[in-house]
Formats: sequence, structure tokens, C-alpha cells
Amino acid sequence: MESASQPLLDWYDRHARRLPWRVPPADSRNGVRPDPYHVWLSEVMLQQTTVAAVKAYFEAFLARWPRLEDLAAASQEDVLKAWAGLGYYSRARNLKKCADTVVREFGGAFPQTQAELKTLPGIGDYTSASIAAIAFGERAAVVDGNIERVITRLLAEETPLPAAKTLCRQEMDRLTPGDRPGDFAQAMMDLGATICTPKRPACALCPLRPTCRGHALGIADTLPRKAPKKAKPLRRGAAFVAIRKDGSVWLTKRADAGLLGGMSGPPTSDWSAAQDGATDESAAPFEAAWRDVGRIQHTFTHFQLELVVFVAKDAAPVEPGDGWWSAPGNLPDEALPTVMKKSLSAAIPDAFKRKRAP
Ligand code: ADE
Repeated sequence: MESASQPLLDWYDRHARRLPWRVPPADSRNGVRPDPYHVWLSEVMLQQTTVAAVKAYFEAFLARWPRLEDLAAASQEDVLKAWAGLGYYSRARNLKKCADTVVREFGGAFPQTQAELKTLPGIGDYTSASIAAIAFGERAAVVDGNIERVITRLLAEETPLPAAKTLCRQEMDRLTPGDRPGDFAQAMMDLGATICTPKRPACALCPLRPTCRGHALGIADTLPRKAPKKAKPLRRGAAFVAIRKDGSVWLTKRADAGLLGGMSGPPTSDWSAAQDGATDESAAPFEAAWRDVGRIQHTFTHFQLELVVFVAKDAAPVEPGDGWWSAPGNLPDEALPTVMKKSLSAAIPDAFKRKRAP
């Protein structure tokens, strides 16, 4: 008997996206499995980040650290530098911890069950299910945002997200086949990304249309319902870009824990998700002729941040403290999160233009 998952697997065999961490369905059907290191790395990168943004980072990581052991041997600083711009930096810190743990405690081979995978740093419900299903063929229920959209539509489920999450997981568990569970999960993701899109889904092309209640009721494109989003508070602070005569820029490393933990940037006042920082020179790290050059904004998960950017040219910090002068042309190689790149660019318009090799 054909299972409910078969039409989707057949569609996947013809339409799977070719992605650098995947084994194509023609091989996967024959039992070829992707490298667990590749699956883990891609799934951690894909948490809260789009496929389009992840591809180049995934390839750069693999080129630099071809095996898990190579990543475990890297410094946290180099991993954070390579992650810079991808966001959610605790992922990079946990990535390194996880690589260390797998090498130290599991002899370099990822454990193969969802339950064991979940004990590793940075691996929660989603990532453990996706690695178990894709790399090891476990019938684990993988649920991400795309899959929630597909399932709420299939069921015509009008309970808003996030309340509908449990239901989505139960339904994904019911639908996931024992054979090719990883391909099934990725087929649901691809369907969500290319056919069952948030706006104007292409229902005419959908292999699940015959059983889709949302489509039958004409409400597919209105699902999933979502609980109203809380408005993000606007937090304020200041960033201080000191430039030495030779063009070097003064950078500091942020505390290891918390938002942007371990990442670098120009000194800033003490803003956080919960409170504003100073927006004037009173928070400057040292005395200099600070000049206000404008404001930048950046959106974090729970708040919007506006930083007043101050610049001091020909600066010479009296007490350098725990920072360093980043040499001219070196900013692209620092561990700078996007908000810090914006601050630096406000002060130095060509800060991130690569100088041509001589
Ligand atoms: N998003 C998260 N994991 C994915 C995968 N394996 N393929 C495509 N998109 C994804």
C-alpha cells in the first residue's frame, strides 16, 4: 500500500533543491547518506537563517575545516570570525563546544539517535530531529517554520502559532515514514519554500493538493494564523569609533556571554535588550575629540537598536585597556557582527571595501 508520504517523496525525487549539504534523492533512495558533519553544520546554520544566506558560509566553513576534527582544533576566535555576519552568535560558540565534545567524548563520530544528539551543545528539538532523520535515517519528526506552514494548511488548522506547534509536531510525527524520513522532512521544507509559500501558494503544482483541507476550503493562503506580534521596543546607545593617524581602528571584544558574546566591535555604551545605554560622550571609552556622525539602526530578535555613532580622528587612547588597533584594511577579517559593521561604516564609508591585492 502506498503511504500518505509517497506523493511527496515522488515530487521530491523530481524537484528537490540541489543544496551543498545534501545527497541528491537518486542516491539517497539507494541508501546513500550525507556526512553527519555536513548535516550538523548546515542545520545549525539554518536555524533562524535562510538557505540563501547559509550557502556561502557553509562552503567557506567546509573549505577551511573539512572535517569535524579540524573544527574542534580551531580557536573559538577563528570560528567567531568565520561566523561574523550570520547572526545569533551563541550558535557559533555552541558549534565549537559541540565539535569539542563529539571529538572528546564520542571519538569524533556523532551519536546517531535524536535522544543522544539532544544532549550536545546547541542541539535542541529541531536540530536533533533533523540530524537524526537526515544523517541517520531515524524516523524523527522534523518541524521548522516552513513545515508548520505546510501542516497548518494541510489540516486547515486555525489555532494560531505558536499555540499550534504541538499539533504540528504530532501531525509531522504521524506523516513521517519509516523509509526515507530525512528526505521526507527535506521534501516538506522544499515544498514550503517553493510551492506552499507564505504568499500566493502555487496550489496547482502541489503534490499534496488532493488531501489539503486548507486548499479545499479556499483558506490555504490565509494560514497559518499567528498570534499578534509584540511591538519591539526601541533601545538606544552610542558607539565610539576611534581612528588612529595610520587609519587603524580601535576595537574591543564583547563579554563572552549574552548578546553578541565574544564578538568584536568599536566600544559602545552599555545598552541591552532590557535598557538603553548612554547616547552621548559620557560613555566614551577614553578622552578624544568625539564627533557625532549620525545614527544607525539594527533589528534584534526582541528589540530594535539605535546607536549614535561618534568618531574621533587621530585618536590616541590614554589607557588602551582590553582592546586593539585593527590595522587599515583588516576590518573584513575581524569578528564583527552586522550591527558593528553598520557602526563602522557610518564612520568610515569604505571600511569593508577589500583593497585590491598589489
Ligand atoms: N532548512 C533547514 N534545514 C534545511 C534543509 N536540510 N534543507 C533545506 N532547508 C532547510
